[in-house]
Amino acid sequence: MTRIETLCSLLERADTFADVGCDHGYCAAYMLTNGLCREAVISDVSRASLAKAERLLAAHIEEGSCRANCADGLTGIAEDTSLVLIAGMGGMEIIGILERGFLPKRFVFQPMKNTEALRRYLVGRGAKIERDFTFYDGKYYDAIKGSRAGGSSYTEAEFRFGRDNLRERPADFLRYLRHRIEREKEIASGLPEPLKGEREALVKAMQEVVS
Ligand SMILES: C[S@@+](CC[C@H](N)C(=O)[O-])C[C@H]1O[C@@H](n2cnc3c(N)ncnc32)[C@H](O)[C@@H]1O
Repeated sequence: MTRIETLCSLLERADTFADVGCDHGYCAAYMLTNGLCREAVISDVSRASLAKAERLLAAHIEEGSCRANCADGLTGIAEDTSLVLIAGMGGMEIIGILERGFLPKRFVFQPMKNTEALRRYLVGRGAKIERDFTFYDGKYYDAIKGSRAGGSSYTEAEFRFGRDNLRERPADFLRYLRHRIEREKEIASGLPEPLKGEREALVKAMQEVVS
């Protein structure tokens, strides 16, 4: 599956849907053309990015089932929106957007890095994480799906590696870890002692998961 297909597979039927940082707008198009939401908001801080989604969704905008919103993060998105997607941004950027805005009722996040920080943030805010896994489409990506209420409790290893990755050990995740182990070993070999020790501890933790 492509990254966009994986994201779409996580999007469920929702009354209202918002794609924050939509760029091309493919996921909103998926929701609307499949009749999975009554109304979608395509939103992006960049006018040029939003224009791409506006072109793709012109017919839906005209008929009133899609609204375009040029703004930072969740500005202009109703707090009771049923489902919010934020994909293709760093984990710290996603945390910033949630801090400046709100924790959506239901969400799908696909951070490009700092996934551990995002997991810690969501669990710390009392969110329920329902899916949390790594997948591959030319490179490795993480996806997190959940809801703002219900709570989750995570172990340290789950924060670091992702809960479903540890429980289900999907092939993509194990390949990712093997790849990272080799990379971290290479990096560690060129580092002075105290820094080397940290990298080696990480390699050991990853080897324990893989074995
Ligand atoms: C790499 S693209 C990802 C597009 C799409 N979500 C995807 O996953 O394919 C990131 C998009 O997020 C937008 N973006 C970055 N920071 C943003 C923010 N604070 N608020 C809204 N959009 C933002 C960028 O303009 C860009 O269009």
